[in-house]
Amino acid sequence: MSSFKLVLFAFDRLAPLTLVPMPRTSVAPLRIGDLVIDPPILQAPMAGFTNAAFRQIVRDFGGAGLLATEMVNARGFVWMDENEAEHPDRLWGVADEPRPLAVQIWDNDPETMAKVGRRLVEEYQVSVVDINFGCPVRQVTEKAHSGSYLLREPNRMHAIISRLVEACSPTPVTAKIRLGCHPSNINCNEIAKVVEEAGAAALTVHGRTAADMFRGNADWERISEIKSHLKNIPLIGNGDLDSAEKVVAAFERYNVDAVMIARACLGRPWLFAQAAAALRGDPIPPEPTLEQQRDVMMHHYQLVVDRFGEEKGTVLMRKYACCYAQGKHGARYFRTHVAKVSTADEFYSVVEEYFPIADPKTECPPPSNLQSS
Ligand SMILES: Cc1cc2nc3c(=O)[nH]c(=O)nc-3n(C[C@H](O)[C@H](O)[C@H](O)COP(=O)(O)O)c2cc1C
Repeated sequence: MSSFKLVLFAFDRLAPLTLVPMPRTSVAPLRIGDLVIDPPILQAPMAGFTNAAFRQIVRDFGGAGLLATEMVNARGFVWMDENEAEHPDRLWGVADEPRPLAVQIWDNDPETMAKVGRRLVEEYQVSVVDINFGCPVRQVTEKAHSGSYLLREPNRMHAIISRLVEACSPTPVTAKIRLGCHPSNINCNEIAKVVEEAGAAALTVHGRTAADMFRGNADWERISEIKSHLKNIPLIGNGDLDSAEKVVAAFERYNVDAVMIARACLGRPWLFAQAAAALRGDPIPPEPTLEQQRDVMMHHYQLVVDRFGEEKGTVLMRKYACCYAQGKHGARYFRTHVAKVSTADEFYSVVEEYFPIADPKTECPPPSNLQSS
């Protein structure tokens, strides 16, 4: 443990050895109701990942104008409330952490959603209540007729949004959708109008259909087209942004007011700071060194263990640790070992031995058929 510095360094302290100058683009802050989001780069809600520990890491680096929780099941929340159980674990940190912060909720019943929205506004004082109309997972769509399932029921979407807007006022309510349920039924333009008419303060669009899951590329032309179907509310584009340059290009090429980043920030929480610098026209800070990345991961681990205890925290950290290693030389080897850890000692020794730090001992051994006998 002692070999790891658990001090999280500020991104601007990373000596920018290779500065990549970007042309200055002028991008206005995003306005969601009265809320000003600057820079207009949002951290996406991601179930199982964007908990308070992750959000703290993102916030420490800076660059994300608005952070979001994981999606919270409204029906489950109401049940817990009625049964005097603790509030959902997914609301960990929400009451106390810095603002702005969006909490995302899902269900298909307007009254249930309104009840939870009101609680989030009154008790938690959240900045934004976001509705999930994009989740393609069967448990949410087929079992609960929620998430992206609702894209085929615009009237119900309208009822949910308008009831929630009324219950949360003056806190803004936003909606996150996909292009449609299926490539043969792309109805995002129609849905966008419904979302605005129902009173939502912004619309986020992931440029795939629910049936696509994560296959293919996000269709930014389609996202861009939606803008002409909105009268006043801003459009937030989402899908496949994994570099500062792509964020700049999204603003330059497409008609969006803001962008949202999901998967790419999981192992690279400094991506927002890089993208924000690029948008300002400043040099893009380089990737942290592998040692610095390892220190960030260890700090993340500490936050998770502080909250969940050693055993649960270590198991939970496995997936985050894999994200930090992803794309690096030796990542597969690290993944194989970190997937089995369940104590702090095991975690530290796997990190020390296998986290990719460009050291020969972390390199994957050659396949056995290439090894000399
Ligand atoms: C592990 C994971 C969990 C996700 N959970 C949510 C969620 O809770 N709510 C939501 O609206 N979208 C969720 N998404 C979708 C993302 O927010 C985002 O729309 C999608 O990943 C596309 O953006 P990207 O290409 O930047 O990853 C999730 C995605 C992933 C990979």
